[in-house]
Amino acid sequence: MKFALFASAAILAIGLAACGGGEPAKPAEPAPVAEVTPTPTPEPVVAPASTMGETPADIPAFMKARHEKYEDLGKTFKVVLDNFKSATPDMTAVTAAAAKVKGYADEMGTWFPPGTAAEPGKPGAKPNIWTDRATFDAGIAKLQVEATKLAAVTDAAGLKAQFPATGGACKNCHDTFREEHKDK
Ligand code: HEC
Repeated sequence: MKFALFASAAILAIGLAACGGGEPAKPAEPAPVAEVTPTPTPEPVVAPASTMGETPADIPAFMKARHEKYEDLGKTFKVVLDNFKSATPDMTAVTAAAAKVKGYADEMGTWFPPGTAAEPGKPGAKPNIWTDRATFDAGIAKLQVEATKLAAVTDAAGLKAQFPATGGACKNCHDTFREEHKDK
């Protein structure tokens, strides 16, 4: 029995030597202590990147509908803003509004098929959305992440902490990809 153990150890040593490219087998070292890596905070699940899709048959109608969705997104986010400013925020309203913002963010990737850019310099969707889609998609993902966190907030302190990051996600995209309507 002793011999059998020895023999298999020798075979193992030969096997290791072969793997190591012919170097003599070294005595086994104690297994290194596994490094403790801190568990990262799980990122909220985000929807897939945007789809270009087909050029819509009625481009002006498509662009009008898209603009209306953004206007509603603005109204929805205003609910959060008003509560952010309030000393006694209505957290039920905040949660509902934040969830709606997240829903808009989830579908935003489908709102920019080819042919639906505003004319250069005119208010609306800037042409660089179609030439720098990766950055645009990252802007959408940022809003998805921040709106998800906002929807999970349960009290005034949480709202105070999470509001700026969410508003920042709107501004982040607007600064690069939106020509603002100056008439309001
Ligand atoms: C990934 C990019 C992106 C993100 C994120 C984004 N927007 Fe926009 N937004 C746009 C673009 C592009 C337009 C112009 C589209 C159009 O009018 O057809 C726009 C238009 C708007 C408009 C219409 C008014 C105007 O001047 O055009 C409002 C209101 C608005 N966004 C609010 C928001 C709010 C609030 C958020 C965050 C909760 C947000 N947006 C996040 C890209 C974005």
